[in-house]
Parts: sequence; structure tokens; C-alpha cells
Amino acid sequence: MKVTKAVIPAAGLGTRVLPATKSVPKEMLPIVDRPAIHYIVEEAVRAGITDILIITSRGKSSVEDYFDRAPELEERLLASGKEELYRQITEVTQMANIQYVRQQEAKGLGHAVLCAKSFVGSDPFAVLYGDDVIISPPDQPAIGQLCAAYDRYGLGVVGIKEVTPQQILRYSSLAVEPLEDRIFRVTDMVEKPTPDKVLSLYSILGRCVLPAEVFSILENTPPGAGGELQLTDAMRTITHTRGMTGVDYVGKRYDMGNKLGVLEAIVEVGLAHPEIGEGFRDYLRGLCGTL
Ligand code: UTP
Repeated sequence: MKVTKAVIPAAGLGTRVLPATKSVPKEMLPIVDRPAIHYIVEEAVRAGITDILIITSRGKSSVEDYFDRAPELEERLLASGKEELYRQITEVTQMANIQYVRQQEAKGLGHAVLCAKSFVGSDPFAVLYGDDVIISPPDQPAIGQLCAAYDRYGLGVVGIKEVTPQQILRYSSLAVEPLEDRIFRVTDMVEKPTPDKVLSLYSILGRCVLPAEVFSILENTPPGAGGELQLTDAMRTITHTRGMTGVDYVGKRYDMGNKLGVLEAIVEVGLAHPEIGEGFRDYLRGLCGTL
């Protein structure tokens, strides 16, 4: 079954990028000239997703404003002959059918996904974590690679990557067995493992495709690591019943919930940017000589 719906949880508190995230959602931090969430919606659209639900929260209305029309600005741009900018800002409003729901309390990623229950209905759906930007070749969007694995195996899919022994303790850890190139059977998973519970250095990074049964499982899952309702705990149940696969997707992931991740994204996207890439490269070359 073709996946056409996506959920983007973007209601977290973003404490790792405070104080900026006190008033600017981390999903709205700009990577050169677009907010992080623009790249995420673009990835979903490239994968054939038509309907997107963004989970927001208090203080995050700038996310809705970004994807909405801005008549005054549009008129002003047209009146001053700035057609290209007009085209760019109106294009943003037409990317997909985007809806919003507010998570009233930041009770965890699992709780945020549960807010999408009525939007999703009984269809399989994609989840793109709102602070994980993944840059892949345009014809290979990361979530599209996961959707292809869903089509092939008919099982929920997690996007996975190997991380360092230090990072695995802050993320999740997976037990996997190879199935084919870049695709694995997932046999177990644990969120934020203690060192003795690490299953492998493979972690879930930023993307999954889930069957709708995850909602009834989430409703019966107790709070986990950090006292939050963890999506990983619900996916673990699916792993033990129906089974899940993991895709080591092609693409580089930038963690916009982390100061260093924000800088890496800006530098690398900046270097590839058609308008400022060359100038930025010259600037960096000069700067590197002084380091
Ligand atoms: P994170 O755990 O990275 O987000 O969740 P956080 O809670 O904002 O992180 P801290 O405060 O810096 O540690 C991954 C994704 O899930 C969303 C976040 O917005 C992020 O995109 N999320 C997390 C929610 O939507 N609701 C929540 O209650 C928690």
C-alpha cells in the first residue's frame, strides 16, 4: 500500500538549543535561507507524500505562518518586481496539504505521534522527526527509501545509521540481521540504553514508516526513558510481534536539536548553495588558514 500520509512531530522543548529555542522553535532554525522543517516537508513531498500533519505546541505558531500565504508581502514583492522571491514564497504554501495539531504537553515523541491518530486512520504512515534534516540525492529522499522497504516487506521500517559508542547511549540501540543491501531485519530495540544494554551501534535516526496499529500499542505503553512516552517502546512491541525492518538510508542527517548539528547543516548546505556557495567556500578557505 502506497504511503501518502506523514506526521512531523515538532512539539519538543528543544532544551539543547536554549536560549534560542525559548522563542524560536528548533524546527524553524534557518539552514541558509529556509527553516529546517522546509527541508523535511520537501523530502516527504519528493517521496510522493501528499498529506502532512505537523504536531506543534505553544509558541510554535511560526511553523504554521511559514507554510501559510502572506498576502501583504506577496503584493509588495510583485509591486517591486521581485517575481523570483514571490515565486519562492508562494511555492512554499503549495508544497503539500499540511494540517496541524497541538500537543498540549511535551510528554514524549510517542505521545506526539499519538496525537496523529485520527489524521492517520488505518493507513500506514511516515514519521519524519522535526529536528532531523536529512540531505540525500534529490531522487532518493530518505523517507522514500523507507517507503520502498515498506512496499517490499509489508512491515514497519525504521531509518538507521551506525553512531558512536557515546551517541548510542543518548539515542536508541537496535539488534539487527542483514537481509539485503542496506536493509536489515530488526529483532530488538531499546531507547537510551545503559552501557550494559547496548544491542549494537545501529540507532534509529529521524525516520520511520509505521502501521496504524502503533496507536493502540502506544495507548497501552507506559512512560519509558526520561518519564516520556517513547515511540521506540511501541516499535519494540511491533518488532516482537509482526516484525520490523531497518534501512541504512543513503543521505546525511543533521541534528537540528543540537548546536553542533545546526552548524554542520549550515556549513554543508551553504557550500552547495547556488547563490552563495562559491563566496562561502572562499570565505571558509581564508578562515581555515587562520585556524
Ligand atoms: P527530541 O527528544 O529530540 O526533542 O525529539 P526535544 O524533547 O525537543 O529535545 P531536547 O529538549 O533538546 O532534549 C525528537 C522530535 O520529537 C519532537 C521534537 O520536536 C523533535 O522534533 N517531540 C519530542 C515532540 O513533538 N513532542 C515531545 O513531547 C517530544
